[in-house]
Amino acid sequence: MTPEAPPRAGSLIVPSVLPADLSRLGEECRGLEAAGVDRIQWDVMDGRFVPNLTFGPDVIASARGLVDVPFEAHLMVDDPDRMLDRYVAAGCELVIVHAEACARLHRTLTRIHELGARSGVALNPSTPASAVAHVLAETDLVLVMTVNPGFGGQAYIPAVEPKIRELRTLIGASGYEIELEVDGGITDRTIGGAAAAGADVLISGSWLFAYPGGKAAAVATLRALAREHRRDRLGAR
Ligand code: DX5
Repeated sequence: MTPEAPPRAGSLIVPSVLPADLSRLGEECRGLEAAGVDRIQWDVMDGRFVPNLTFGPDVIASARGLVDVPFEAHLMVDDPDRMLDRYVAAGCELVIVHAEACARLHRTLTRIHELGARSGVALNPSTPASAVAHVLAETDLVLVMTVNPGFGGQAYIPAVEPKIRELRTLIGASGYEIELEVDGGITDRTIGGAAAAGADVLISGSWLFAYPGGKAAAVATLRALAREHRRDRLGAR
């Protein structure tokens, strides 16, 4: 049974800890929670699905007890079925797999629910929205990559915005409560396009960590911009 999804607020701001000072990971997580983030995203990379290697489940578990903010695992890994249970046991309430990495996506998503977590499907920039059309009933979140996965600090790909709009329409027509998350190159300059296209969860890594005014100001800036542009998309509200 899928754990109860958190109440739908406005737009959610979720940092990736990829740019964090890994020698002070616990402090960094505490700082993000104090800054008012809605969740923390762990970018898990296996060196095969993407040309980079990052966190295993034990690293995530080591930070779990330090903060209360929910954790999500973005699994940029081949054949994620092998380790789903490890990331749920490490304390991730949301586990996101790549459609491109799953031979049996529907089964993988139902397995995440069986483990007691919420499920997410990530789509690389070139993967069409139709890749999730037949699994929406099993999905709690769709993650649209606006960079090619593997590294932080890359430039946002605006050409992906029509796909965000298409997915917003698909999700709306489905009647399911599904979050639409965008990840990659999200800054104060790009968040408007993503939010106006329909994103309601926004991942930021390098821009948020480097913001001169500090993380709380970065989160507040992104949240205000997302709310402003998202309101435009929804009309007068
Ligand atoms: C790419 C990663 C990044 C990260 C965010 O594989 O998923 O998108 O989360 O990094 P920035 O915000 O620096 O693009």
